[in-house]
Amino acid sequence: MKPPLGAPFTVHMGAELRAIGTVPAAVCAEPSRASFCLGTKTFRMDYSVAKDGSLSCAMKRADGSGELPVGGQVFPGRTIKDNSGATADQRYSGPVSLTFPNGENFPELLYESHAVAKESPNVEHATVILRDSVNPLRVELHVRAYKDESIIEQWTVLNNSMDKTVFVHRLDSVFFQSQSGNNTYLEWFDCHEGSEAGWPEREKLSKGSRILENRHGNRHITGPEPYFTLGFGASPDEDKTPCLVSALAWSGSTRLGFEINDFNILEVSCGVNQPRPVPVDPGKSMASPTFVCSFSEAGKGQASRNFHRWMRRYGMRDGDRLRLVDNNSWEGCGMNVAEKSVIEMMKMSAELGIELYVMDDGWFGNGANARTSDSAGLGDWQLNQQRFPNGLDPLIKAGKENNIEFGIWFEPEMINPKSDLIAKHPEWVMRVPGRELVLRRNQAALDLANPEVQDFMYHVVADVLSKYPGIRFVKWDANSSINNPYSPFLGPDRQGEMLNRHMSGYYAVMEKLVATFPKVDFQACAAGGGRADIGALKFSHTFWPSDNTNPAYRLGAIWNFTTCMPALSPTCHVTHAGKEFQPKYRFDIAMMGQLGMEVDPRRSAADYLAASHVGIAAYKSVREIVQLGDQYRHQSPFDSTTPSLNYVSADQNRAVILAYQTGDFKDPISVSSPLSGLDPARNYRVSEINLPPGDEKPRLSPSAKHVQTGSEWMKQGVPLIFTRKFDSAAVTLEFTGVRLTD
Ligand code: DGJ
Repeated sequence: MKPPLGAPFTVHMGAELRAIGTVPAAVCAEPSRASFCLGTKTFRMDYSVAKDGSLSCAMKRADGSGELPVGGQVFPGRTIKDNSGATADQRYSGPVSLTFPNGENFPELLYESHAVAKESPNVEHATVILRDSVNPLRVELHVRAYKDESIIEQWTVLNNSMDKTVFVHRLDSVFFQSQSGNNTYLEWFDCHEGSEAGWPEREKLSKGSRILENRHGNRHITGPEPYFTLGFGASPDEDKTPCLVSALAWSGSTRLGFEINDFNILEVSCGVNQPRPVPVDPGKSMASPTFVCSFSEAGKGQASRNFHRWMRRYGMRDGDRLRLVDNNSWEGCGMNVAEKSVIEMMKMSAELGIELYVMDDGWFGNGANARTSDSAGLGDWQLNQQRFPNGLDPLIKAGKENNIEFGIWFEPEMINPKSDLIAKHPEWVMRVPGRELVLRRNQAALDLANPEVQDFMYHVVADVLSKYPGIRFVKWDANSSINNPYSPFLGPDRQGEMLNRHMSGYYAVMEKLVATFPKVDFQACAAGGGRADIGALKFSHTFWPSDNTNPAYRLGAIWNFTTCMPALSPTCHVTHAGKEFQPKYRFDIAMMGQLGMEVDPRRSAADYLAASHVGIAAYKSVREIVQLGDQYRHQSPFDSTTPSLNYVSADQNRAVILAYQTGDFKDPISVSSPLSGLDPARNYRVSEINLPPGDEKPRLSPSAKHVQTGSEWMKQGVPLIFTRKFDSAAVTLEFTGVRLTD
C-alpha cells in the first residue's frame, strides 16, 4: 500500500492534520505498554520508556543482536543523560522548541501511549503520543518501517491543546543520538546553483555544534542538499564502514544539526529551517516533513540500494516504469523556439532515436511582454501568437507522425515585473511592504500561501494539458528564491506561517495536477539542483540536477545524487558543453541516470549526430538495467581517476559496467573494472556497447574471457584498456542460460 500522496509528507497547519494521528488498531510486536519494536529485513528499532517517562530507541540487527550506532533519547528533556543514565545540565536546544504562553521555551515530552499498525505486509507504522510534563501540549512521533527495503520514515506532529497560541521555533522530523561521538564522519552535498550542485563535503565531526542550513525558502541553492551520510568509525565508503544514509522530504529551507555533547555523544536533529516562529493556535496542529533513512553495516552502497528500491516503490511517481530518452530545446536554442523550428528539431531528434522532445522556455507571452528573454513574460502563460500562430496542435501532430512525444516547460511559481499578470494582480507577488522588490533573474516569487495563487498555478498547467491531451511531459522550473520574504495574503500577524504555507501551496498544486493528469510525466527543476530532493520527487518522475552539463562535473554530481536518488530520476543530458570530450564519453556518463540530450540537432555536426545515434541505441539496450536495477558504485570519481560502477537487473540476468578514465597519462592504462551483484553460479557473456563511428576501438581488453561465472567475474573484474584522458567504457554481461549447478 502506498502512503497517501502529500499528507503526511507536507507541513500542513490546522484541522487536516487530525487524520494523521488516528492510527488503526495496534498490532505490536512486543505488546508491553512501554516497549515496542519496528523491524526491517536488516535492522530494527527498539523503543522503550524509562521510569521518568522519557522515550529512547536503540537500533539493533534484525534478530535483536548487537547494538548498532544509532540510539538514545528521542526527545531529550530538560536534562541530558550520560551513558549510565545520569543526568546533567538543563538543555537549551532540542528537536522541539517553542514559546509557551508563559514565555518559556522547551517542552519536557513524556510518553503517554503508543500504537503500532500493520499498514501492509511490508509496512508497520508506530504512533507514539508524548505529552509535556506541565502543559496540555502533545507531540506525536510517527515511525514507519519498510521491511523489504530496510527503510525507516519518521515525522512529528505537534498538537496544541492549550487555550493560547504557541510559537514553534523548531519541530524537527528526527532527533537521534549515537555513541559513536567524535568518531563519526559526515558526508553531505553542496547544492550550489549552476556549478557545484551535488559536490561532496566530507568532515570528521568534532565536539560542539555543526549546523548545515539553507535559507532560500522554496528551493536549495546554497548550503546542503537535504540529505547526508554518517560514517561510524570511518569516512563513508561503499562497502565497509557502517553508514546511515538519510534524507529530508522537503523542498524548502532545511536545517541539519550535528552536535557532540559533553559526554561525547553525537546528537543529530534535522528539520525545516524556520525563518521565524510558527504560530499554532489552540486546537491546531503542525507537522514536520518526513525524514527517511537506511542503515548498512557495510558501506553506504547497500543503504543507497535500499533507498533506490524504496524510492521506486513508495517515494516517487511511477518508480516502476522506464523514463523516456528526451531532447530538450534549452541548451541548443535558448528561448528561440517557434512552430517551424521546433517541428524540425522534433523530426531530427526522432531520427536519432529520441522518444520525447521537450520545448523549454520561450513559448509564451505576447506583445511587449513576449518571453523572448528572461526579462519579461513570466506569469503570462498564453502561447506566443507570433511563434505559435496555430497553437500546439501542429507540434503534437508532428510528434505523432514522427513517433516522438511532446513535452513543455513551465515556471508557474514565478513572475516577471514586466508581465500582464503583475498589472492585474500586484497583490499576488511576495513583497515586503514598503521595501523595494528584490529580483533574481528579473523575477520574483508569487505568494503561494494565497489559495487564489494556487488556483492560478494549477490552471496555468492544467488548462494547457486539458487543451492539448497529447502533451506527455511537463518540466516544472523555479528560478528564484523567496527573496522578498513576506506573504501579503497572510498579513502582518501570520508571517511565521509563511514558509510552511508557501511550500504546502506548492505541494498542494503538484498533488492536484498529478492526480488529474496521471499519464503526464513531471520533472522537478530549479536551475542547479534546487529541487533535487525527495520532497519534490514525490510528485515528479525525474529531477534536473544542474545547468552545468560539462561531463567532468556531471560524473561526480550524478554519482553523489544517486546516494539516495534512484538512477531513473536524475536527468542526464548530453550537450556540447566542454570541447575536450568525445561524444562517447558524454553518452557513457549520461548512461548513469535518465539519459537524454539538450542540443539543436540542426546545428550539430554529422559525426556528433552519428555518435548520438549509437549512444542512444546503446542506452536503450541497457536502460532497464540502469533505471530499474541495483546500482553498485566502486571507486569514486573524487578518490580515483578510474571511477566505475555497475548496475544489475532485478533478476540478475543482465549487468552493465560504466567505467571512466579521467586522469592525465602517457601510456595506455589497463584496469580491471570491479563488478558486484551477479549470481556467482551463473555464466555471463561479456560484450561492449557504445562504440560510435570514428571511436570504435574496443576498450574491452582482448585478454577478456568471453564467458565466466558471476563468481569469476566478480573476483577478477573486467579487463579494460584506456588510451586517452576522458576515456570510458560501457560493457554488458548477459546470463548465458547456464548455471554451474544446472
Ligand atoms: C533554468 C533551467 O535549469 C534550464 O534548464 C532552463 O529550463 C531555464 N531555466 C529556462 O529559463
